[in-house]
Amino acid sequence: MIWLIGNRGMLGTELSEALARSSLPFVGTDREVSILDQEALASFTRGKDINWIVNCAAYTAVDKAEDEAGLCRALNTDGPANIARLATSIGASLLHISTDYVFDGKGSRPYQEDDKTCPTGVYGKTKADGEAAALAACPRTVILRTAWLYGRHGPNFVTTMLRLMKEKDSIGVVADQKGSPTWARDLSHAITAILSAEENVYGIFHFTDGGEITWHDFAVEIQRLGRNYGLLENDCTVNALTTAQYPTKTHRPPYSVLSKEKIVKKYGVEVPDWKESLERFLKG
Ligand SMILES: NC(=O)c1ccc[n+]([C@@H]2O[C@H](COP(=O)([O-])OP(=O)(O)OC[C@H]3O[C@@H](n4cnc5c(N)ncnc54)[C@H](OP(=O)(O)O)[C@@H]3O)[C@@H](O)[C@H]2O)c1
Repeated sequence: MIWLIGNRGMLGTELSEALARSSLPFVGTDREVSILDQEALASFTRGKDINWIVNCAAYTAVDKAEDEAGLCRALNTDGPANIARLATSIGASLLHISTDYVFDGKGSRPYQEDDKTCPTGVYGKTKADGEAAALAACPRTVILRTAWLYGRHGPNFVTTMLRLMKEKDSIGVVADQKGSPTWARDLSHAITAILSAEENVYGIFHFTDGGEITWHDFAVEIQRLGRNYGLLENDCTVNALTTAQYPTKTHRPPYSVLSKEKIVKKYGVEVPDWKESLERFLKG
């Protein structure tokens, strides 16, 4: 049986639905079994035949993390370490979700799994340390890094843009940061493919949707499709900004495209084009 931790988050909710569709047996928990409480984690597994633990729980408020470093470290580093130790002790494998923020984004070609990590903010550092802690405590660990995640549940760029475009006459969006949007449903399919593979390869993998785009051009496409599908009626001008014109507490990676070659080769995972996925998402 699969144990999905963080089942009420943006990815966790989508993954619960994908697992239910796939008929893989699973059980899900969120805050009621805290990843910070080793005994609570162990006690949950007693009497259950768990062979995979999937950890979608995390501290994800990237800017707030700069002011809440202790809590961020607890959730993103200590939590995965607790889960990895438990996985080893019960003979289960671990799939842990991580992020493009483990890189500084100064690259100019898609990041590969073995590129040196170089996080710049509290969130990225605690996620990179969480990866290392999980891999050290559980040899049968898959680290799955993703980026620019959006979905139906929880705040994200797509839903924020649609709301702002309804409320305002004009908005500004950065046009000098490039990445690959990822629909939580596509990532959930990739996770399901790993969980149902006959033979597993452990280690670090990357998954996002295919293609690359700036935040500004992503917003323009959200607007175009939003209009097509009747989600937006008013006119809103989408202005292109530089990163310097839109300062944030945390440094944002200017280039955060992740190479998907390894996951395609080892797990035969499908990588849908980001534009087609966005359209499927907005179509509903
Ligand atoms: N969102 C993105 O753009 C993005 C991009 C790249 C990678 N990722 C990674 O993808 C994964 C999933 O992200 P997401 O956006 O789905 O996150 P999310 O929506 O913030 O979900 C995280 C879940 O963990 C729960 N949680 C918090 N503290 C917990 C605890 N002590 N024990 C158990 N559960 C706890 C949260 O509950 P509360 O809501 O009550 O706090 C929430 O339900 C994370 O590893 C994240 O780092 C996300």
